[in-house]
Amino acid sequence: MNFKVAVIAGDGIGPEITREAQKVLDRVSEKFGHTFTYTDVLMGGASIDVHAVPLTEEAIAAARASDAVLMGSIGGNTSTSPWYKLPPNLRPEAGLLALRKALNLFANLRPAYLYEELKAACPLRDEIIGDGFDMMIMRELTGGLYFGERRTVEENGVLKAIDTLTYDENEIRRIAVRGFDIAMKRRKKVTSVDKANVLDSSRLWRKVVEEVARDYPEVTYEHMLVDNCAMQLVKDPKQFDVILTENMFGDILSDEASMVTGSIGMLSSASLNDTKFGLYEPSHGSAPDIAGQDIANPIATILSAAMMLRFSFDLDQEADAVEAAVKQVLKDGYRTVDIMSEGKTLVGTSRMGDLIVERI
Ligand code: IPM
Ligand code: MG
Repeated sequence: MNFKVAVIAGDGIGPEITREAQKVLDRVSEKFGHTFTYTDVLMGGASIDVHAVPLTEEAIAAARASDAVLMGSIGGNTSTSPWYKLPPNLRPEAGLLALRKALNLFANLRPAYLYEELKAACPLRDEIIGDGFDMMIMRELTGGLYFGERRTVEENGVLKAIDTLTYDENEIRRIAVRGFDIAMKRRKKVTSVDKANVLDSSRLWRKVVEEVARDYPEVTYEHMLVDNCAMQLVKDPKQFDVILTENMFGDILSDEASMVTGSIGMLSSASLNDTKFGLYEPSHGSAPDIAGQDIANPIATILSAAMMLRFSFDLDQEADAVEAAVKQVLKDGYRTVDIMSEGKTLVGTSRMGDLIVERI
């Protein structure tokens, strides 16, 4: 089959890691007889440098015209890059938020999985790790604090900043339904995370999640306060299957969950709307400090491409092949520097990509 993929290489390590993911897709096309046609799209700093804005209408149109978007990472060093002298709505991150909103990508899936081979990289003690863990963070991605009204005003000579956290019940319901659907394909447990002891938006969240849960009698669900969840993630990460949460909490908890797996360089993500379309990107950022050195770990982006095969293209067998190749490369002892441990073979970004390609 023929698929159109928009590629947003982005900034920092973005171009290096998307290049490796494309190598992997090309190997998949060769082995399984598909065609992937790529269109390069500018976003973030790369777009600012050319168009003076982090996302153009043409870029949105190009993404829309594709079957899925493969993305690297965007943004630069926030204290030294000239991009951060621009007003907030013109900075690199604003492009990503605008694209999420324009394409209605409300469901963000961030799997956090501890590879047997990478146990040594996990900062938790052995008795906490046990047999490892495997969770899916379902983060609401187009509402809440990120998209509420915001402004900074001066009142009687005092600066005041206002951010608004808004959710309506429909926004909560659609992500909750996604969360429960995914739980049905996993270990059938949902932990809905909120701050219902303080926030109205969380109390509505809880009410709607309870309604949705009634349609999924096989799924065990619980509510957990976000501060407790942050603690439980390091105390006993095995307890989690699907963590369902709003935008800001999901941003924070997914970074924490990723660190618990040993390296943020391993974690993929998918951002989906109501159709088969999705945007696939690693959970990590653009790491400007190591850009261009051929040392970044491309695995998160390669696994994001595997999610693209699975969720947007329904190519499960192909996605399995990519995931198996990643496991095999780890088993064979190859490591990028972020996951390196004694006795293993250190390789760079592009060699890691080649080694995975060889195993598909
Ligand atoms: C993420 C990132 C983004 C977010 C930034 C780059 C705006 O941290 O995808 O988690 O906060 O959503
Ligand atoms: Mg984040």
